[in-house]
Amino acid sequence: MAERTYRIALIPGDGVGQEVVPAARRVLEALPLAFDFVDLDAGWEVFERTGMALPRRTAAMIRGCDGAIFGATQSPSRKVEGYSSPILALRKQLDLYANLRPVVSMPVPGSRPGIDMLIVRENTECLYVRQERLEDDGNTAVAQRVITRRASERIARKAFELARARAILTQRRRGAEKEERGRGGEGVSGRNRQSPISNLQSPNPPVAPRPLPLVTIVHKANVLSLTDGLFREACLAVAKEFPDVQVEEQIVDSMIYRMIREPERYDVIVAPNLYGDILSDAAAALVGGLGLAPSANAGDSFTLVEPVHGSAPDIAGQGIANPCAAILATAQLLDALGEGAVAAQMQQAVTRTLADGIWSADLGGTAGTAEMTKAVIERLGE
Ligand code: NAI
Ligand code: MG
Repeated sequence: MAERTYRIALIPGDGVGQEVVPAARRVLEALPLAFDFVDLDAGWEVFERTGMALPRRTAAMIRGCDGAIFGATQSPSRKVEGYSSPILALRKQLDLYANLRPVVSMPVPGSRPGIDMLIVRENTECLYVRQERLEDDGNTAVAQRVITRRASERIARKAFELARARAILTQRRRGAEKEERGRGGEGVSGRNRQSPISNLQSPNPPVAPRPLPLVTIVHKANVLSLTDGLFREACLAVAKEFPDVQVEEQIVDSMIYRMIREPERYDVIVAPNLYGDILSDAAAALVGGLGLAPSANAGDSFTLVEPVHGSAPDIAGQGIANPCAAILATAQLLDALGEGAVAAQMQQAVTRTLADGIWSADLGGTAGTAEMTKAVIERLGE
């Protein structure tokens, strides 16, 4: 029996958000937990209807929920008077300061093996403070970039804590696998393996154990010595509180290069907002693409999860969007709510669906959104 009812805000938004959030809801409804869903609007469509991209009702109602699932919203690339991105506003209003993007090898043709990293992106400042202005009769555009010691230390602490937690879970898992092998069990790929890990850990751990835990600090302090210099300095100061965690730093451009060359060497990566955004989309390409990439926006007391992808207007409304990113993001939410075992079950159901060759068009298959969702639900109890 379910012990409590979780009140979950559903904010599908625009485009494929309208398809993948209902898919995630169907998976939740198939779990042995009780949910109370609150349907909320945000995005371009509601802006065109009402003049508000983030209706007051949405901003108010979400506060009464235990967590939220956000789809995607469509944002125009030109400036539209009165419109601003609702996800940026929500992150700010709810102080969701950490954007957690796990990047894990998947059993699909486009995925490289042995990858299990977590990108921890600062989520409240940097260029995303959106303080832009025009000067010189519109011939010069200036954007302000804000980095504070407080936000940098806070995100660094989150990264180091998560690195430590991942290492403990990895150790435990290796112990359990050893024990299982001792009993003549299935070992690493054993189906009964308990892994209460969802957003923290891969279902396909790297074969060769690497030194753990490791935090890589990403910056461009060689050029932006004040802003990135402060970020770097704050992260290195926090690193001193975690003598058990290895630390290294890497300049953002060479970071992208090296992450593509040797992704399996990374564990936790911490970065300012813009670099983290770019790194995580690039990283998604290493493990099967945006259709499989989840993210969580985490504060100290609230988590809003979303797929990394946007509204995908090119495929919206056709029933072919890959629901896995949204489903994996929903597993991150359950993990944040303390339902780690159920979250792991959901994550494994997605992995098995993919391992069984049930792939949507973005993965080279023919399964539609509904078929993939059904396949995941069928594999929940396995
Ligand atoms: P996008 O992520 O929407 O699409 C990029 C490519 O990935 C497209 O080819 C799309 O078909 C594919 N794709 C995305 N999600 C998929 C899924 N679930 N299954 C299969 N294929 C998928 O990025 P794009 O095209 O740059 O942006 C489209 C709109 O989304 C823009 O208005 C942008 O502002 C918005 N956006 C919103 C975000 C959010 O709400 N957090 C994040 C990123 C973009
Ligand atoms: Mg992005």
